Amino acid sequence: MSVHEQKKKITVPDVIQMKALGQKITALTAYDALMARLLDESGVDVILVGDSAAMVVAGYETTLPITMAEMLYHVRSVRRGVRRALLVADMPFLSYQISVEEGIRNAGLFLQAGAEAVKVEGGRPVIPLVEKLVDFGIPVMGHLGLIPQSIHKFGSYKLQGKDPAIAKKLKKEARMLEEAGIFSLVLEKIPVQLAQEITDSLRIPTIGIGAGPHCDGQILVSHDMLGLFDKFKPRFVRRYAELAHIMRQAFANYIRDVRHGEFPSEAESFE
Ligand code: KIV
Repeated sequence: MSVHEQKKKITVPDVIQMKALGQKITALTAYDALMARLLDESGVDVILVGDSAAMVVAGYETTLPITMAEMLYHVRSVRRGVRRALLVADMPFLSYQISVEEGIRNAGLFLQAGAEAVKVEGGRPVIPLVEKLVDFGIPVMGHLGLIPQSIHKFGSYKLQGKDPAIAKKLKKEARMLEEAGIFSLVLEKIPVQLAQEITDSLRIPTIGIGAGPHCDGQILVSHDMLGLFDKFKPRFVRRYAELAHIMRQAFANYIRDVRHGEFPSEAESFE
């Protein structure tokens, strides 16, 4: 029976095994209990409490301003909605860059809040932290390519790894992260061929976002794929619904009904 058909809880070893079994890993983001429950009931394998909450929930322009305290609130909220999926917490900017000690403490706080793994962005600079976290039993998901916490270094959210030198560096860092013990690797906005080469070179699964179809799994920001966050639409996002449009219509209908005295009706009132 495939991991998808099993009703049991998805664990880190299950996610690793899915690559060996050739089963695609499905992952989406959640930031609150309601969205988490809907995702979990739909059978998604991995739920990431992404620092994308900074942009799609808190309204910031980048992921940089979100704090540990705010991310802990999101992780606790999501925990209450998830029963089956693997719950991964994204370590926000400055929660792991200052020292390995701070990184371990903050990752530990996420596990105490109910996460089962953490995600860190970057390659060579995070290797000492990844080794320590894995030694202490904290599973780590890596993240290479367009890493949004480095937006000011990149200058824009452009494709990474087109330049052969950068592609070589990304391939090397993917191997280093695997050796350091990560259980999966997010590849964001890199060319299809590079994502395929990295995927083929690793035993652990890759999870792509804007990295083409050859990754072992896919992740999207839920608010993007639902058409709920409609400020802009990256090319790699497929919209499975147009919720922002539906919500604007519902709000407009309510406002019209109240203004015209058509809400509430007798049936919606008490004697
Ligand atoms: O913060 C996030 O949502 C992410 C995913 C897009 C991978 O890092």
